[in-house]
Amino acid sequence: MTARDPHRFVNELEKSAIERLIARLESRAKDKVFTRLFDRYAAELIPGNGGKVLEVGCGTGATLRALVRRDDFVGEAVGVDQSQDFIEAARKFVAGESFVAKMTFDVGDAHRLDFPDGTFDIVFAHTLISHVTDPLSVLREMIRVLRPGGKLAIFDGDYASMTYALPDHDLGQRLDAALVKASFNNPRIMRDLPRMMPGFGLKLEAAWGEAVVEIGKGSYFKSFVETYAPYIVKAGLFPADVVEPWLAAQLKAIEDGTFFAACTYYTYIARRV
Ligand SMILES: C[S@@+](CC[C@H](N)C(=O)[O-])C[C@H]1O[C@@H](n2cnc3c(N)ncnc32)[C@H](O)[C@@H]1O
Repeated sequence: MTARDPHRFVNELEKSAIERLIARLESRAKDKVFTRLFDRYAAELIPGNGGKVLEVGCGTGATLRALVRRDDFVGEAVGVDQSQDFIEAARKFVAGESFVAKMTFDVGDAHRLDFPDGTFDIVFAHTLISHVTDPLSVLREMIRVLRPGGKLAIFDGDYASMTYALPDHDLGQRLDAALVKASFNNPRIMRDLPRMMPGFGLKLEAAWGEAVVEIGKGSYFKSFVETYAPYIVKAGLFPADVVEPWLAAQLKAIEDGTFFAACTYYTYIARRV
């Protein structure tokens, strides 16, 4: 058995697993860690009157809804995701909302976007690039559908930095690595992008990183480990009798107020030259 990033292979998951991912994406979008990270660059994603913004890998549309809900949002927002189930959920979540007319959700593959060249003023990906099969083809497609002079934003974790404390450091390190391997196809891609952007005709205009850290309490990392720890076992990286006590130890640490987990996240804002 090999590791299969669930978001990469979402179309091969069972219905119950898809339902759990929909719930996780929606609850994550309400987490204050997540909203803080998105809010820090959301103002960069407003295309202006008559302009168009595309989110590639929009999932259930949580990020795009947060953008369009902003008082200062003007323009049109389009979300694309490979999962029919996620797109149906996204459409359901906006039905009846006052801003529904500004939004469109389509099923599509980020490696082969179904839009003519230069369609959008802004194209962004929020926690997509770490999951895709071929991140450089996705980057190329995002640039192709962006008009010259348009803005590209990529946000994601540097998941190779993700860690959960465990008294047994060696086992903890191996379980961190297994969790990352089971959950992300490209855990180090954010380290590569600044080096690659010029070769793709992109000029990096702004970039920053943030450490997401939960000490004592756990909310963001609790939901993460509860959702993805079972994939370590599914991938055959560790047996259930190692993963389950590790997960239980994380949940106990949260209960006791002794929890520690951390990961760094990066935001890149670039211009198509
Ligand atoms: C972690 S989710 C992020 C969803 C959304 N951006 C958010 O922040 O709530 C990653 C998303 O990327 C999508 N995805 C992965 N590979 C894709 C591909 N090749 N084409 C389109 N979507 C893809 C998955 O279906 C999933 O919805």
